Amino acid sequence: MKIVITYGTFDLLHVGHIHLLERLSRLGDRLVVGVSTDEFNEQKGKRSLYSFEERSKIVSALKCVDQVIAESDWQQKATDIEKYNIDIFGIGSDWQGKFDHLKEHCEVVYLSRTPNISTTDLKKSLSRIDSESIQMIKQGLDNVLELVKTIE
Ligand code: CTP
Repeated sequence: MKIVITYGTFDLLHVGHIHLLERLSRLGDRLVVGVSTDEFNEQKGKRSLYSFEERSKIVSALKCVDQVIAESDWQQKATDIEKYNIDIFGIGSDWQGKFDHLKEHCEVVYLSRTPNISTTDLKKSLSRIDSESIQMIKQGLDNVLELVKTIE
């Protein structure tokens, strides 16, 4: 039995995450995913929209994922590899070379990222939509005020 592990925040789950997890699951028989805790995200300078519990629940619900564990620090990877009998550590190519030190514990692979999508971009789009909606509401209120003035 070949066991694969990966780690990440997986906030606002998107098609890039799904592509990565599906490809990783095809490398072995079981896929374990370390989902970053909210505290660990803070250390990484990230703030997720969904909580650790919500992100874990969403990732666990995927057919290609067999087990979700908490990722709470940078050091745990080597211990997890031993603890969960991991054969392959895999992650997106934005981390290229960053985890080569794990090669003494298992095989390490970097998979290409899906282009043109990221949680950061989604958050930016959401905040744009938000300010556009606020503008529309303000415009609507101004129109009503103008109308009220003409009635007076
Ligand atoms: N990933 C990917 N393709 C994308 C986005 C992410 O393959 N378009 C991979 C990353 O390389 C990583 C995993 O998904 O191995 C989890 O990445 P995460 O940082 O949670 O997702 P991002 O969308 O990159 O989030 P952010 O913009 O906050 O960095």
